Amino acid sequence: MLLHIPNVLSREQVGRFRQKLDAASWTDGRETVGHLGTHAKRNEQLPENSALRRELGETVLLALVNNPTFFSAALPLKYLPPRFNRYTGGGTYGFHVDGAVMNLGQGEQLRSDVSCTLFLCEPEEYDGGELIISDTYGEHEVKLPAGDMVLYPSSSLHKVQPVTRGARLASFFWVQSMVRDDARRRLLWELDSSIQQLTQDCQQHPSLVSLTGIYHNLLRQWAET
Ligand code: NI
Repeated sequence: MLLHIPNVLSREQVGRFRQKLDAASWTDGRETVGHLGTHAKRNEQLPENSALRRELGETVLLALVNNPTFFSAALPLKYLPPRFNRYTGGGTYGFHVDGAVMNLGQGEQLRSDVSCTLFLCEPEEYDGGELIISDTYGEHEVKLPAGDMVLYPSSSLHKVQPVTRGARLASFFWVQSMVRDDARRRLLWELDSSIQQLTQDCQQHPSLVSLTGIYHNLLRQWAET
């Protein structure tokens, strides 16, 4: 499932991020990719051990914890701390699939189920830079307003088009979901969204109790915690 979540960060938060990121020192993004990816990747990244990366990453995670749409769609179990990248001057990242297992440190690992990209620049600030996600329904082009996020299955082939004017700043990270299978996550998301809608339209509807029970019992069947 490919999902656009608007306003994960407020306009003020994006402004503060941009001020700090403009003053930051960036390194070659190829430092955090396996050897197969180094040819295709041309961008910059905040260093892994940078205090700014940790600070901004924590703000992103805090925003997500308070976002019911994100929770319902991703059913997060654990996160890889958010990273930040910048594409300028033709910078690009060719078609690839993200690594399946990532190191969280201290012997802990994360299986990447859901990939997230949080846009930090307005679309009109740069040319190119579309995130192209390829799935069984074809290719989807994603270029969102600053503060908005897209989430998609980590199993998808995807790329970032060359940025031919301006700069594209984004945060990106991976989630291990309680529900590993994308099709099951999608069913749960659709059921939960329908229940939320029904609750708004007809709060006393007698089927709400049973539908909510079905949601939780499906989650009980499928969740790994
Ligand atoms: Ni990727």
